[in-house]
Amino acid sequence: MAHSIYVFDAYGTLFDVHAAVRKHSAALGPDAALLSDIWRQKQLEYSWVRSLMGKYLDFWSLTELALDFAFSKVPSADSVLRDDLLKAYETLDAYPEVPDVLRSLKAGGAQTAILSNGAPSMLRSAVDSAGIADLLDDVLSVDELRVFKTDERTYDMVTTAFRVFPEAVSFQSSNRWDVAGATKFGFRTVWINRTAQPDEYADLSPAAVLPSLEGLAQV
Ligand code: LAC
Repeated sequence: MAHSIYVFDAYGTLFDVHAAVRKHSAALGPDAALLSDIWRQKQLEYSWVRSLMGKYLDFWSLTELALDFAFSKVPSADSVLRDDLLKAYETLDAYPEVPDVLRSLKAGGAQTAILSNGAPSMLRSAVDSAGIADLLDDVLSVDELRVFKTDERTYDMVTTAFRVFPEAVSFQSSNRWDVAGATKFGFRTVWINRTAQPDEYADLSPAAVLPSLEGLAQV
């Protein structure tokens, strides 16, 4: 293992952001997947726009506002399910390979952490419900900075917490924009391209691309 510290994005990388809608897809009807996509896209857009204009709201608030917008855009989905979806979002499923990957990295002597836009309370409940708390050395939330990724101060939380230079860190994200930000900061990056997306940010390429976290210790 070439890296001593493995840091993971949370939503979409360790936790399946579409699991909440999937859990209620029968009740939501035929546009459930569309609702989930808009929900995620707006949640991220709000994080970038609010970071740029310096008007922070925590990621849980953005998650609620994004869901409200998604319901407005998708009238076939009954917004009576709003509270059920938010509840499910607090306890999203981890992708199946996650516990074993973290366990084997730790067995190899590496340290592991999350760096996420998520508010501390939502990260805590997701980590606990996935049963991976013992497999993480740290859970870092950008909330204390009141700015979101890809602001470089967010990635700097990792180097400050572990007292290392960026190149000692392997950073994994399923979000190509997050990989771009982490690459620019100086981390070794691995893009977890779970949904076979085309590449972008060609000037900020990852060191490796994997379809899931499996095999991470080998790249
Ligand atoms: C996170 C979002 C960006 O966990 O997925 O930071």
